[in-house]
Amino acid sequence: MGQLLSPVALLLLVSAASRAAEVLKPVVLLDPPWDRVLQEDRVTLKCQGFPPAANSSIQWLHNGSLISSHTPTYTIRSARAEDSGEYRCGTNISNLSFNISSNISSLSDPVQLQVRVGWLVLQAARWVIQEGEPIHLRCHSWRNKCVQKVTYLHADGRGVKYFHNNTDLHIPEAKHTFSGSYFCRGLVGKKNVSSETVIITVQGAANASISPSVLSWHLIAFGLVMGLLLAVDTALYFSVKRDLRSSLNTRKDYTFGWSKDILDK
Ligand SMILES: *[C@@H]1O[C@H](CO)[C@@H](O)[C@H](O)[C@H]1NC(C)=O
Ligand SMILES: *[C@@H]1O[C@H](CO)[C@@H](O)[C@H](O)[C@H]1NC(C)=O
Ligand SMILES: *[C@@H]1O[C@H](CO)[C@@H](O)[C@H](O)[C@H]1NC(C)=O
Ligand SMILES: *[C@@H]1O[C@H](CO)[C@@H](O)[C@H](O)[C@H]1NC(C)=O
Repeated sequence: MGQLLSPVALLLLVSAASRAAEVLKPVVLLDPPWDRVLQEDRVTLKCQGFPPAANSSIQWLHNGSLISSHTPTYTIRSARAEDSGEYRCGTNISNLSFNISSNISSLSDPVQLQVRVGWLVLQAARWVIQEGEPIHLRCHSWRNKCVQKVTYLHADGRGVKYFHNNTDLHIPEAKHTFSGSYFCRGLVGKKNVSSETVIITVQGAANASISPSVLSWHLIAFGLVMGLLLAVDTALYFSVKRDLRSSLNTRKDYTFGWSKDILDK
């Protein structure tokens, strides 16, 4: 009987443990959300998803090296090109830092920050967008200098939108045909300046066709696991019943009576 129980118990333990790890995993958020910035911009990274008591043990990694900040919010007051790269946060990383690539539950996924040198940078809250979701683009200038005659353009030169004064571009519903390379251009004083081009991907119905097969694989896996559990359960049921029968037959012990009722129901 113990041999039968252990696989079930193990399955339950494993699923509970993996769920707990998911819950405890922190996330790094950028506030404001721009992951491409210009030199001298202020950047704030927030480590979220910790129980408050764990605050003091928060650690930050920049390109895999520990940085001195131990607060849930890490601020770069004046960004430099060297601040570019991958940021992660976690607790008690020091002892684990030799093996960052392993799946340590207390370490966040990385967030990429790019600090560019130039007059303009095209910023987006996200570069990969689902069809139907809003797109928010910003043509940000160095030291927030005044930019006029701002155009958001496709890399092929096709203008998307023109603003006499610098204004964020909001597209309420993304279409997958919007996917492509974009940049922005404008006048800083009398200088005609452009940002670098960036790639925006709108995942449309074409990509969505992948999900039914993914779904069916999940269903098959789910079915197999349920089938296995049922088989184990059934085996367990009959083995317990047999054990009870034999003990009842030999000893007629009344304390087994209620369990027998439940099992025979
Ligand atoms: C943990 O951090 C949060 C947010 O920064 C703060 O509100 C809270 O007081 C902190 N708790 C402790 C115990 O430091
Ligand atoms: C690393 O582990 C050792 C021993 O387990 C412990 O004494 C030390 O405080 C730990 N260091 C950190 C930074 O957690
Ligand atoms: C554009 O900006 C200038 C100065 O920054 C301001 O005087 C003007 O009213 C603005 N125009 C519009 C249409 O907002
Ligand atoms: C900036 O230069 C481009 C050509 O490089 C030109 O097409 C565009 O009209 C200029 N923009 C302004 C606002 O003058």
